Formats: sequence, structure tokens, C-alpha cells
Amino acid sequence: MITVPGEGGDENVKVAVLVSGRGSNFEALCREETGRGVVSLLITDNPNAPALEKAGKLGVEGMYLFPGEYRTRFDPVHEERWAAAMKERGIGLVCLAGLMRILKGPILREFSGSVMNIHPSLLPSFPGLDAQGQALEYGVKVTGCTVHYVDEGVDTGPVILQRTVPVFDDDDRESLSARILEQEHVAYPMAVKLHCAGRLSVKGRKVVTSPAERSAGGILLASNEEEL
Ligand code: GRF
Repeated sequence: MITVPGEGGDENVKVAVLVSGRGSNFEALCREETGRGVVSLLITDNPNAPALEKAGKLGVEGMYLFPGEYRTRFDPVHEERWAAAMKERGIGLVCLAGLMRILKGPILREFSGSVMNIHPSLLPSFPGLDAQGQALEYGVKVTGCTVHYVDEGVDTGPVILQRTVPVFDDDDRESLSARILEQEHVAYPMAVKLHCAGRLSVKGRKVVTSPAERSAGGILLASNEEEL
């Protein structure tokens, strides 16, 4: 059960981005318009993550924290430390962006309703690893990306927004991934902006977006062109 925190008020929301590698979504979240959401922390489970260097250049605190000995999940003792580091810094929203680990405990508990992920397919199609390869293999003509709240499953939480891209006959993983990534960099900042403005609520599996106040201006959502 996911409960999204209430109205955002006028306060900024400190955002932490958790990554394992490149960090292009982290960079987009730092550079693009995210309203009251302000990226103030990057944490990685990979001491060689290129994202650490990006954080340095962008003037955002970046840190490597040991995740435990498991390969695809956290050791709960160490996940506790990740949660504590974010709590100490007053983080209000946690954005997973290419973190190659499943969250099961402390982070989801501590930041209940305030953990998001981005996935390079139109969920529920092609969850898990190599979503772009799965889409090519299946032969779909349209795919895209999904920003969703995180629950205890793998890419199963309520969908916040999705953006679509065409799949061409001569696409390979690289060309398709690049086309999807462009849309990821639009979708994630939008989702953060909506969340931090207190405009999202979860009803069952459905994330409902309340209309923007006139003064806040419209925001592009879901269909790539519809304006709310
Ligand atoms: C993205 O494709 C994202 O959808 C997936 O992992 C990749 C991370 O890329 N979850 P980057 O590190 O943000 O460049």
C-alpha cells in the first residue's frame, strides 16, 4: 500500500537520486525544471560510477555507500545506513535511476510513498533487466518509459506517467535505448515536479493527478502532448 504524502505546501523538497552507473537521469533531474524538487544528494552502490563525477561537477553531494555482499539486493543492515544518510539530510523524495538493486526494507519503510523509479519500457510490459532488448525480441512497434512509485515488487508499483517512442525495423538495443532515454529525461523531471507540488495521489493501483493551479502553469503529461 502506497500513501503519497499530502500537499507539498510552499517548501522545497530535497531529492536524493540512487544510481549504480552512468547517471544521465540524475543529470536530467539536476538540470531540468523540477519545481519544488531540488536534487541535493546522489548515492551509489558502485565506487566507480560515472555518476559520482557528474555530481561533483554539478555541485551535488555524492557518496558511495556499501550495499552489503548480495548482488541484486541490499543487506538490510546496510540499507538501514542508506536510509539514515538520507534521513540525516532531510531528504523528502527518493528517486531510483538505474540502481541495480531491489529494495525490500528500510528505505521503503522510511520513505513510504516517496520512492520513485524510472524504467525503460511501458510497464507492465518488459519489467526487469534489458527492457529494450525484451521489446526488440518481442517485436513491439511502440515502447517507451515509465515513472512509477516503488513497492516491494520488481517494477510493479503504481504508474505515475509514461512516454512513448516508436520502434523501427532497423533498431538495435543501442538505437532504441537512446530514443527511450531522451524521453526518460523529460518524464522523470515532470514526475518529480508533480509529486513535489503535492499533485499526485494513489487510489488503488492508479495514480491520479490533480489539475495545476492556473498560476503554476500547465505541464505536459502521459501522451507526450496532452496538457494538464
Ligand atoms: C535508464 O535506462 C533507466 O530507465 C534504467 O536504468 C538506466 C539508467 O541510466 N532504470 P542512467 O544511469 O540514468 O543514465
